[in-house]
Amino acid sequence: MPSDGDRSTIQNEFTRTAKTFGERTIGRFDHMGVVAFSRAESGSSVCEVGAGTGNFLSLFSDVAGHLIAVDLTEAMLLEARRLHDRMDLVIGDGGGIPLRSSSIDLVSCAQMLHHVGDPLPVLTEMARVSRKHVLVVDQISTEEPSEIEAMNAIEMLRDPSHASSRPPSALRSLLSEAGLDIVDEAIHETQDSFSKWMGADEFPQRRVDAVMSFVETRGPETGMGWTLQDGEWSFVRRRMMLLASPK
Ligand SMILES: C[S@@+](CC[C@H](N)C(=O)[O-])C[C@H]1O[C@@H](n2cnc3c(N)ncnc32)[C@H](O)[C@@H]1O
Repeated sequence: MPSDGDRSTIQNEFTRTAKTFGERTIGRFDHMGVVAFSRAESGSSVCEVGAGTGNFLSLFSDVAGHLIAVDLTEAMLLEARRLHDRMDLVIGDGGGIPLRSSSIDLVSCAQMLHHVGDPLPVLTEMARVSRKHVLVVDQISTEEPSEIEAMNAIEMLRDPSHASSRPPSALRSLLSEAGLDIVDEAIHETQDSFSKWMGADEFPQRRVDAVMSFVETRGPETGMGWTLQDGEWSFVRRRMMLLASPK
């Protein structure tokens, strides 16, 4: 569970960006085959912890009978309500999910764990609430300690609510510690441009300048594959999906 300080940093950052975030991230999971990977069955219940503006949860609109979006930040859920219909919205913390044990077929989180310094209580809660599967999707670092450190330094400069991008091995260990058996995993890569990742309409110019300077001086240390082409910096965003069952 985040500390009070971490919680208010997360809420401040996502309240500030809720509108632009909802638009910027539309479609970012479309290439990943998430629904087939999740084995979600027709009519099943699907919950997402840290659902934000609902872009990930909405992937399940055609298959699920019940969609539940849980998030700490009210402003993000209000955007979810504006952008998607048919979702039940719950303000809550992943470290204490306000749902009954074994009550939801698929309990998911996407692009949320890297905001949590200690993800074990969140994953343990997801395992508790799940009736069949837990699905974790998050951006990952390489396995190289110096690259993990540099990647997290640039991510924190961009967004003070960032806690840690983790390597695949750490995510696997965390799921296992939370009492989950991994049944499948996959990694997807996309090429993302700096200007989309750090749009001037979403971030203060001071931060944009600081992150650009980091890219130019220390980009290669991050393991993110920064390249400059025709005056535009881009990097390789790697995301991992892990499907697991409660033991
Ligand atoms: C990067 S956004 C991802 C939103 C959505 N999953 C998506 O990918 O479009 C992270 C979201 O996680 C929420 N969040 C962070 N920590 C949380 C926690 N401990 N419990 C519930 N929500 C949390 C934030 O409020 C934010 O809306």
